[in-house]
Amino acid sequence: MFSPQSTEVIRATLPVVGAAIGDITTLFYRRMFDAHPELERDLFNRGNQKQGEQQKALAGAIAAFATLQLEPDSAKVDLILSRIAHKHASLGITPDQYAIVHEHLFAAIVEILGDAVTPDVAAAWDEVYWLMAETLITMERGLYQLAGVDAG
Ligand code: HEM
Repeated sequence: MFSPQSTEVIRATLPVVGAAIGDITTLFYRRMFDAHPELERDLFNRGNQKQGEQQKALAGAIAAFATLQLEPDSAKVDLILSRIAHKHASLGITPDQYAIVHEHLFAAIVEILGDAVTPDVAAAWDEVYWLMAETLITMERGLYQLAGVDAG
């Protein structure tokens, strides 16, 4: 759950973010792979990244998670996050990579949505991102420990 102010901001901006998710996703990957070619070469290729729908999984999941937080259903949230965490752990995702995704995803959001991203809007979506990221990082740490391997 996040703060009441953020909940209202998320409710008000979900339609705009949802409508632009395709453009945001394309720009996000272009920015991130320009800055970190090794992620495209070593990680996303291993994940069988395809053009189109599958590329939307990451940004789409953040929008889906935000929607779920408006009408919290914790069993559903846990199921979705657990599935993502298993996929991530199978690929060796590490905690530090969450800051890289954050940087480029939020830069893409600002570039696509422009002035609509007021400081309040940015703060509310930041809260969504880090709530989700911290939960995933914790779940992935548990999976690595269970398997007796280091993250990555
Ligand atoms: C809060 C942040 C994140 C969310 C919400 C998220 C969400 C997702 C989702 C929904 C999938 C698809 C899972 C499935 O196929 O069942 C996925 C796959 C993947 N994620 Fe994440 N992710 C996040 C962070 C990251 C980070 C930090 C990295 C590493 C740079 C990463 C790399 C990947 C890769 C390589 C795949 C597989 C892609 C593919 O199959 O094409 N993700 N993620």
